[in-house]
Amino acid sequence: MKISVIGCGYLGAVHAASMAEIGHTVVGVDVDEEKIALLAAGKAPFVEPEFDEMLARNVEAGRLTFTTDFSQVSDAQVHFIGVGTPQGPDGSADMTYVNAALDSLLPHMGQADGPSIVVGKSTVPVGTADSIEQRVVDAGAILIWNPEFLRESFAVQDTLRPDRLVYGVSKDAERAEVSQRILDEVYATILELDTPRLIMDFPTAELVKVSANSFLAMKISYINAMAEICDATGADVTMLAEAIGLDDRIGKKFLRAGIGYGGGCLPKDTRAFQARTEQLGLNSLDFMSDINAINDRRRKHAADLAIEALGGDVTGKRIALLGAAFKPNTDDMRNSPSIDIAKMLRDAGADIVITDPAAGPVLKVRRPDVPVADTAHEAIKGAEATLLLTEWDEFKNLDPTTLEPAGKIVIDGRNSLDPDTWKNAGWTYYGMGRN
Ligand code: UDX
Repeated sequence: MKISVIGCGYLGAVHAASMAEIGHTVVGVDVDEEKIALLAAGKAPFVEPEFDEMLARNVEAGRLTFTTDFSQVSDAQVHFIGVGTPQGPDGSADMTYVNAALDSLLPHMGQADGPSIVVGKSTVPVGTADSIEQRVVDAGAILIWNPEFLRESFAVQDTLRPDRLVYGVSKDAERAEVSQRILDEVYATILELDTPRLIMDFPTAELVKVSANSFLAMKISYINAMAEICDATGADVTMLAEAIGLDDRIGKKFLRAGIGYGGGCLPKDTRAFQARTEQLGLNSLDFMSDINAINDRRRKHAADLAIEALGGDVTGKRIALLGAAFKPNTDDMRNSPSIDIAKMLRDAGADIVITDPAAGPVLKVRRPDVPVADTAHEAIKGAEATLLLTEWDEFKNLDPTTLEPAGKIVIDGRNSLDPDTWKNAGWTYYGMGRN
């Protein structure tokens, strides 16, 4: 089947390559010429496990092409919309790219054999699909909403072997039936894996995405609130999380206390969801303000802890920051807690040095003013304090006896180090809600 994917950012590029991987002929479209040139040459514009090989393999096989020219999509039967919905000034999702994608796409559809469908994947405010359906119908296609749940660093796996597929379908029974049948054909190999497929109306499908992300954010902030209480009482949040997580009504996942969540989704989606709810005249998500506030203060807590551990004044003191990405196995620094902490320490006068195996090289290009070390050993050499901010394996596996710091203070922002190993090597260890 011929498929187009509009928007070749993180979501779109991975989705396009994954659809080619399962045998479709795919054309990816984006307005960013530089990105398209890289992708067309089979080169990944970001770090993502499994993606590079899959992209190169499918470009080489001729199943996957990239273009800035919308006329190339006219004979595709399925058009995925995977453009970004960045945070607007009032917290709500900015729909400029979704609207622009539709404006460019709709006049070019219609040369496929049989009916064509437009599949919304972008994370949008609830009500969007209902509001754009008529435009899609007028252009001769059918709209279906199919939110994406992929995690960065597991993006390929989450696309090809998802926990579930969600289809939001039209109220019109015939449109619903046709669009569902076509999308089932697209995902045939994924459905063969017994992936649950849930069919629902448009608003429910839109809500699944933002409510899932808000729930995840809530779990993280909940355990971080417990970390604050553990710090005040001498309790250990990692043991607490282990114990409550064994109750399978709670579950162990997403109970890692630390410097909190960042990235392109959780912070943005929770705020946009709250903004949309307020637009609807509801105060149902007022509690999200607390969840975000807890998350924000985790960053400040880590910076304050470093300042306090260094006697209250960090002016001119070298501080090593291990990690810049918002989580390991990605080079994505969007809303990264580490970057915020770096700014706070720098503003306090510290002489910071950052290292990150994937985001480090990106940081060197984007921020030549920020000192970036190639390795943790290099960053820590001569540092008076070390902060672990992204739990890359190579940081977790550091042997503290091989390091040459000026001061043996380590702040474990992700509770990822073994406190005894570091303490036995003479370091003063500070965890997040554990000692
Ligand atoms: C998230 C959702 O998981 C995914 O389903 C959705 O489609 C997009 O948003 P992602 O942003 O890639 O994915 O990252 P995720 O793995 O969810 O981590 C988000 C942040 O939470 C990271 O900064 C991570 O370090 C932090 N986190 C995660 C914690 O602080 N504690 C945890 O227990 C888990």
